[in-house]
Amino acid sequence: MPEKKTFYITTPIYYVNDVPHIGHAYTTIMADVIKRYKKLMGYDVYFLTGTDEHGQKIEQSATSQGLTPQALADKMVRHFKALWKTLNIDYDYFIRTTDRYHEEGVKKIFKKVIEKGDIYPGDYVGHYCVSDESFVTDSAEDSGDGNKICPDCGKVTQKVTEKCYFFRLSAYQDKLLTFYQENPDFVLPKSRMNEVVSFVKMGLKDLSVTRSTVSWGIPMPGDKEQTIYVWFDALTNYITAIHYNDEDEMFQKYWPADVHVMAKDILKFHAVYWPAFLMAADLPIPKQELIHGWWLKDDRKMSKSVGNVLDPHVLLKHFNPDAIKYFLMREAPIGADGNFSHEGFITRVNMDLANDWGNLVSRTGGMTQKYFNQRFDSEAVYSPKEQTIKDQYLELENEVTELFDQYRFNRGLEKIFNYVGQLNKYIVESEPWILAKDPAKRDVLAGVLKTLIRAILSANTLLSPVIPDTAEKIKKIFNYDASGLGWKDPGEIFHINQIEQLFPRVEPKDFFADEGADVDKKKKKEKKPEKEAEEEPLPEGMITFDDFKKVEMVVAKVLDAEKVEKADKLLKLTVDTAADTRTLVAGIALYYQPEELKGKKIIIVKNLKPVKLRGILSQGMILAASGPDDRPYIPILPEETPVGAILK
Ligand code: MSP
Repeated sequence: MPEKKTFYITTPIYYVNDVPHIGHAYTTIMADVIKRYKKLMGYDVYFLTGTDEHGQKIEQSATSQGLTPQALADKMVRHFKALWKTLNIDYDYFIRTTDRYHEEGVKKIFKKVIEKGDIYPGDYVGHYCVSDESFVTDSAEDSGDGNKICPDCGKVTQKVTEKCYFFRLSAYQDKLLTFYQENPDFVLPKSRMNEVVSFVKMGLKDLSVTRSTVSWGIPMPGDKEQTIYVWFDALTNYITAIHYNDEDEMFQKYWPADVHVMAKDILKFHAVYWPAFLMAADLPIPKQELIHGWWLKDDRKMSKSVGNVLDPHVLLKHFNPDAIKYFLMREAPIGADGNFSHEGFITRVNMDLANDWGNLVSRTGGMTQKYFNQRFDSEAVYSPKEQTIKDQYLELENEVTELFDQYRFNRGLEKIFNYVGQLNKYIVESEPWILAKDPAKRDVLAGVLKTLIRAILSANTLLSPVIPDTAEKIKKIFNYDASGLGWKDPGEIFHINQIEQLFPRVEPKDFFADEGADVDKKKKKEKKPEKEAEEEPLPEGMITFDDFKKVEMVVAKVLDAEKVEKADKLLKLTVDTAADTRTLVAGIALYYQPEELKGKKIIIVKNLKPVKLRGILSQGMILAASGPDDRPYIPILPEETPVGAILK
């Protein structure tokens, strides 16, 4: 068998000054999705994550909490590992920069660069941003008190005057520019590559790579007074984790890395300093760096000091990890910033995962159970429609793999969900509930349901890198065990297991009632005056917006309509609300023929208490204008109105 192609992927190693937030989770989830996708494509993948534990920032944080830096790191590592476990992150190795072998590896590469003659002693006089662990140039804005404002994070810098060692970064300016020219896809997206090139073209100054005033770091080989600069230490993790110390088979197998994933804040360190350090150590340079945007909250960059960080556990209380993964991958295109709003999150998850995907699976499984008692007992007959569903899938698979290869997950997911929409439409158009009434059409019904199961299993594999837990559940429901892409043709094994609800719908009002206090303290405060105003007595006949919101009105499609026996005025309608299929009984039979309404999109009140009319349970009410003599006029919505859309 030919050897599998290897793929080595990394996340940044995160600082241990605080617990992880949704921004850290985003990068790690993205790397996890890429790992799972590459595995699906047949690669031997190695996925590294970990923690960055040295430096002044951690030292200061530990002191302020009355802990040693090591104790703080040990505590925070538990938080990171626990979150990755909850989110089902399939990393292969978790590196900590306080691990012995890492320290040895850092010393090894540092010595190599000294031997090359690219590290020399000197004095550093300038400004340092502790938050970014970064030296700030004199051209940065003054803070007014003799310090500078860090151009990256906006915090006030510290003045530093100390003996240190410099790395001859200036000597690598031309080599770097040549490297970028020869590897124009080194940084993705292109706009970030251009930024890097402009930055290097502006001129590179030598970089201080040791500190004499920071004790929490790796001692410099040859000078005990100095510790190695935390970024030199941290970047080296990508090689020490895969045995740079011995340069054994593992190192040969996986280095250079295929992709380092990160946000734009640490681009300069990875795309300028890291390749220069590697060039100096005569080591190959990673193949690619994938730079994603920031997650913002209320239009501001999430940060602990602004107080707008989002704790993933708030979402995990109500939603499963796949919902979070799906939202993060679906919402922000690579490179662009994404604004996190809880409303946006809930709507996206309810619409795509609960309504479209979850319902497609449960309806298909449910109908197979109901009409075939878990096992198909007749031959299947297929029409050209079924062939179209298969062809559309094969085209989709080509498009999606092309997009996923370019890490354009949001576009790929959008396409998959367009296909899911087609499948839901196919159910409505095929009318299995009508076919089920006619024993002569049993083979046609079998054809429809088998096509749906095949399409679901096929799309399920495409979705599996992003929502892996759900993908496993779906395979269990349909008793299907194979993996790999392609149109799934599982022959006659359609035995349906217990159908569990994949994505329970979470109503925004329930989420906010439960989480309101911690999700958005600011909003709560702003709401107060409004509440007081509401407490004034309402003018006669008026209702508040909250009263109005209690009525849940949605767009429903009439799947079937028939007269109710011995009741001249009543029609029984079967409607699709996207969330379910339900029965309504309406007093409209004198004015509407069943045929007139079939396939039409109407408005129904969804949360009206069900009542029994002539022995039939009516689960909601049709909305109609009432003319003279109570003649009803039903508003019929345009064909393109989405089923399940809320009226508000
Ligand atoms: N320790 C360094 C990285 C060293 S890598 C050799 C560091 N750590 S960090 O904890 O600050 O993590 C920064 C990274 O976390 C970002 O590059 C990004 O991957 C992720 N994110 C942190 N906040 C984020 C957002 N608000 N949005 C998106 N990603 C975010 O820098």
